Amino acid sequence: METERTRLLRIARQNERLLEDSRERQARFQQLLDISQELARAQVGETVLLQRIAQRGAGVLNADVAAVLLVDDGALVLGAAFGDADDLFGAGARTETRGRLVDALRMSDAVMLPAIGWGRLGMVLPLRAAWKVVGVMAVARHAERPFTADDVLIGTMFATHAATALENARVYQETREANRRKDDFLARLAHELRNPLAPLVNALQALGRLAAAPDVTRLQTIMAHQAGHLGALVDEILDVSRLRFDKLTLNLQAVDLRDVARHSFDALQLSPLAEGHDVALAVPPEPILVQGDPLRLEQVVSNLLNNAVKYTPRGEPIRLLLERNASDAIMTVRDRGIGIAADMLPRVFTMFTQAERSRHRAQGGLGVGLALVRALVERHGGTVSARSAGVGQGSEFTVRLPLWRAPGRADGETRARHARRVLIVDDDPRERDALRTLLESAGHAVAVADGHPAAVEVAAFFRPEVTVIDVGAPGLDSHEIARRVKRLPQCRHTYVVGLGAVPRDLSRARPPLFDVHLVKPVSATTLVGLVAHAGRRAE
Ligand SMILES: Nc1ncnc2c1ncn2[C@@H]1O[C@H](COP(=O)(O)OP(=O)(O)OP(=O)(O)O)[C@@H](O)[C@H]1O
Ligand SMILES: [Mg+2]
Repeated sequence: METERTRLLRIARQNERLLEDSRERQARFQQLLDISQELARAQVGETVLLQRIAQRGAGVLNADVAAVLLVDDGALVLGAAFGDADDLFGAGARTETRGRLVDALRMSDAVMLPAIGWGRLGMVLPLRAAWKVVGVMAVARHAERPFTADDVLIGTMFATHAATALENARVYQETREANRRKDDFLARLAHELRNPLAPLVNALQALGRLAAAPDVTRLQTIMAHQAGHLGALVDEILDVSRLRFDKLTLNLQAVDLRDVARHSFDALQLSPLAEGHDVALAVPPEPILVQGDPLRLEQVVSNLLNNAVKYTPRGEPIRLLLERNASDAIMTVRDRGIGIAADMLPRVFTMFTQAERSRHRAQGGLGVGLALVRALVERHGGTVSARSAGVGQGSEFTVRLPLWRAPGRADGETRARHARRVLIVDDDPRERDALRTLLESAGHAVAVADGHPAAVEVAAFFRPEVTVIDVGAPGLDSHEIARRVKRLPQCRHTYVVGLGAVPRDLSRARPPLFDVHLVKPVSATTLVGLVAHAGRRAE
């Protein structure tokens, strides 16, 4: 009876040990799985990955030393180490150990190293990814803890995962490098193409002005048109590379989107592309102001309009609509053209994407227009979306941009209290109009002049409380204008704002002509706030 009890107890203990062993094994394999997944997902450079392999390899194999050695020019070179790997497997390794490390390259299984010094024994695992051996991983631990069959199994599996991760990292790095070289090449190509193109376009324009035989004029028109087309393509490539290198800058200012829509519409009307197309524009009577770069916003609208024309048969309607809600300006380009298939719709804004069908129709283009549109709109804090009920059902592109809010605009009292007479002197009609729109919508009375002597003549009767002068425009002596305006008795106290492309130290001029100098692009809020408060001095 007693013996039976002892036997049962022994069996129970054995079972307990087995259970514990199996739990331990399970934990080790789970650890192997976790580490393998971590290595597979790691998006790091090769150096960091090698370091991680050595460290995790030591961990999963309960080793105190680990080394990753890579094949380099026929030799094995230490790529990463954990513990005293240099002494055991690197420069300080025994000759025999070194020989075994190289041998392991030819093996498909683990190679055991019974004595490698420092009271350690080792195991070497070939790092094999698919058919290629990239190196070996060697681990070591104290001689009293020999490697088990489980260690060999785990080591072999770990080495396979590690080698695959290394190979992936290499491919990833090579792809990135190739991509970067391609981007560099595109940027250089566009610059190089642009250089001969500019004089060519100029020469063709000059040729057009000369009286010539009708045939020559006709040829000149064709060439000028094609050169213009080439120029537009080169500019597109340039923009793509600017975006890639994050070098696309915006010249932000207050912009009335009605002007943007009208300019883009007019440009399209002038282009032969629009011939025979029924394009119409609808804008509201009141300004729709946003903060933006007018040229870039025109590029957005022109791209959408060009697409509409390209992908719509003649005679079918194309509409450009501008409206607003409480917070956004909404611009829509709607056509009844070939439409966009449902599977293509989510991809139209991706760089270099074109629908198969449109390529077959030889519509040309690089497939970058909409990618540029999206990037530009997003830079302006807006969104763009595409809708189509499917092939043959027409398309609709909608751009939303946050409305610019003039401080105190909604508040009639603030508006009246701070209303100023502002004179804007700028020789660029677009900038002048943008500033005027901005300041008028903030409740100020605005007069404009394109330079001297108009500025002084207008100032004499308008008595500006604030004078904003473009500094650094080639045809405009801003200092002379400021001096002459201030010399008028009725303008002695006018507050003079200089708007320039570069920062300036105004304190040097005695007496100072400019009260403040703002560097373009000036934020709408800054300028409106400044004008509202600055004018008080003149009261
Ligand atoms: N209004 C539209 N109607 C139908 N398909 C369109 C329309 N606009 C764009 N697409 C589809 O989306 C694709 C991408 O347009 P995107 O403007 O980016 O390139 P593209 O017009 O082909 O070339 P480009 O770089 O000269 O603009 C087009 O090739 C076309 O298949
Ligand atoms: Mg396009």
